[in-house]
Amino acid sequence: MGLFISLEGIDGSGKSTQARRLADRLRACGRAPVLTREPGGAPGAEDIRRLLVEGDPDRWSPETEILLFTAARRDHLERTIRPALAMGRDVITDRFADSTRVYQGATRGDLRGLVDDIHARIIGIEPDLTLILDMDPEIALTRGLARRSGEDRFEEFGLSFQHKLHAGFRALAHEAPGRCVLIDANRSADAIADDIQAVVTQRLG
Ligand code: TMP
Repeated sequence: MGLFISLEGIDGSGKSTQARRLADRLRACGRAPVLTREPGGAPGAEDIRRLLVEGDPDRWSPETEILLFTAARRDHLERTIRPALAMGRDVITDRFADSTRVYQGATRGDLRGLVDDIHARIIGIEPDLTLILDMDPEIALTRGLARRSGEDRFEEFGLSFQHKLHAGFRALAHEAPGRCVLIDANRSADAIADDIQAVVTQRLG
């Protein structure tokens, strides 16, 4: 089996850049990683993505979001993640279930129990390693909104929401220290990439 790695963090924390850089470094070591993302990572899941990241912040309740993100994740798991791992390829995903634990489970009421129950029944796996990019919420939000990607439904919830997310990801890192590693993302992309490389190299033995 390949290694299953997720990158997590608030919007604008540099996850996507670092996911790409990690894939490049693994390729340079002769591995064949699959680089993917959530919501999305398979054609049906990408269709669901558009429903989730575009439009008004109050378009969906957190409960409805949990179901939609989980539907997208199940499709991603069936069609992309499991087949790749079974072929012995590493999978690097830009977000996975920790995003639901934090964005839906810990920001608009305590829905963590519901998230965990649905995850256990429908998804049932965790990454081998989760890299949590820890960044100042104000800087990250400015960066995220500056992109004007048309996918900023969650950024539109504002700064206090981003602070809750930031605290939520830190709490998760303490909850699952064997799987999660907190990476200081308030630094240059090169320094962050070097840290990530060191952690992944150690995991690969
Ligand atoms: P992205 O900008 O990292 O591609 O993610 C899209 C948005 O979806 C981002 O604002 C975080 C949010 N999200 C959730 O709220 N719950 C989830 O489970 C996932 C995977 C993403």
